[in-house]
Amino acid sequence: MVTRALDVVLLGPPGAGKGTQARRLGEAFDLLHVSTGALLREEVARGSALGVEAKAFMSRGELVPEELVGRMLLKRLHSSQAAIGCAYDGYPLTTGQAHLLDGLLAELNRRLDVALSLGVGDDELVVRMTGRRSCPSCGAVYHLTTHPPKDSTGCDACGAAVVQRDDDREEVIRERLRVYKETTAPVLDFYRARGILGEVDGTGTPDVVFARLRDAMRRVKR
Ligand code: AP5
Repeated sequence: MVTRALDVVLLGPPGAGKGTQARRLGEAFDLLHVSTGALLREEVARGSALGVEAKAFMSRGELVPEELVGRMLLKRLHSSQAAIGCAYDGYPLTTGQAHLLDGLLAELNRRLDVALSLGVGDDELVVRMTGRRSCPSCGAVYHLTTHPPKDSTGCDACGAAVVQRDDDREEVIRERLRVYKETTAPVLDFYRARGILGEVDGTGTPDVVFARLRDAMRRVKR
């Protein structure tokens, strides 16, 4: 029996838990986790031409130009691992990107099954992001108070020293939140009009939020 690929978009403001939950969805439904933010950070760390160009936008909390992100996504979607379906984290952030994703999926004879949006208030988002620490080697994500690494500085999974992201400084966080409200609200309307948007309370423990996401998926998925 051939199983159809499942494609799920995770939406929500910076720090809402998209990465945390996309990883869980990936494990539960056997999906490739596609994080445009993580892919961009890899390019920055490698010092590639794309990374050099993207870095300036990211450090100011602005969106990276669509053409650069689209090129990166296209490559990822054409990789063999993406054939099973994907959990998109950080894409699309504009209606232009939402249309582009539709086109890329159509070329693969696929269509988006569900868009899940996580809602969290600004004050909690700032606490989550200022306390976030990430592993530059394997991408694991921690929080200094709610989910610290066991030995305080080394990643539980691979032992590398965990670091604070450049864009997790409060002034940059405020700008990212402003950009999100301005550009991404229309993306929610876009998927709502199509009847595939599930809106979920993103507060509570990651387990509680994950259970809500699974329920919303059952309700909304076509
Ligand atoms: P990106 O990396 O996508 O950042 P973001 O959207 O700002 O989202 P975050 O990664 O900050 O947060 P998250 O929602 O994944 O939360 P997480 O799970 O880590 O993008 C970064 C930049 O790249 C952008 O600003 C832009 O410049 C560029 N970019 C990316 N995509 C682009 C695109 N499509 N177009 C143009 N530019 C693009 O959780 C956050 C913290 O909270 C962690 O510490 C975690 O442990 C904790 N936490 C998670 N869940 C919970 C919970 N339930 N309770 C308590 N704490 C929790």
